[in-house]
Amino acid sequence: RTLHHHAVLGSTNEVAFRLAQDGAEHGEVVVAEQQTSGKGRRGRVWVSPPGLNLYFSAILRPELPPQRAPELTLVAAVALAETLREAGTDAAIKWPNDVQISGRKVAGILTELSAEPERVHFVIVGVGVNLNCQAEHFPEELRETATSLSLARGERVNRAQFAAQLWTRMEEWLDLYLETGFDAVRTRWKELSSTLGQDVLVRTDRNELRGLAVDIDPSGALLVRTESGQVERVLAGDVEQLR
Ligand code: BTN
Repeated sequence: RTLHHHAVLGSTNEVAFRLAQDGAEHGEVVVAEQQTSGKGRRGRVWVSPPGLNLYFSAILRPELPPQRAPELTLVAAVALAETLREAGTDAAIKWPNDVQISGRKVAGILTELSAEPERVHFVIVGVGVNLNCQAEHFPEELRETATSLSLARGERVNRAQFAAQLWTRMEEWLDLYLETGFDAVRTRWKELSSTLGQDVLVRTDRNELRGLAVDIDPSGALLVRTESGQVERVLAGDVEQLR
């Protein structure tokens, strides 16, 4: 399998996107020691200091209709949470794709898509995991809400070993998903989730919504029961867990 390793680049997602446009194959991976413009969801920055953390992007060419591509984000979240639990933590998934340890964000996933209305050309699944960074690497405003695996465990993490374990889990879940569909992923996602059963405030591009997170539906959308008893379906947004 082809692994594109870079000492420093802007964003592994961007490099992977370009490689895919130039014909890279399903399963090719881009990793970097450092990103100078690591991208988070919703236009945010992903803090990417050199040598400490994991930044990688996988090029996938699944045979899926484009509307199902978001399910791949949940596939990656399940693999991430399992790998972090195997590393001895209480990692849990906050919908849709933040992975947290003791309520603090340790990893994020940014999925990007190139598609026609009927067909996916390729999907880039970008994963950032805070492995060995320390509190001072986070900007002030993230210090209370972000963590790293090493901060959580109190010892250094072997990055190559973690990356290998994560990739193994990702391939397992991806193969199962592509062979049997979303059901098994959805079941496992629910077991690993910290969002379901919580009161949440959801901010989408258009509005805000408050209610009880009751389920994720067969396509991965979050179902929120509002005060009026109506169940709203949320496809994309930011979730604040109120309790
Ligand atoms: C989030 O906002 O939670 C998603 C963060 C995703 C960060 C990773 S790091 C590797 C890949 N390259 C990027 O530029 N972003 C993703």
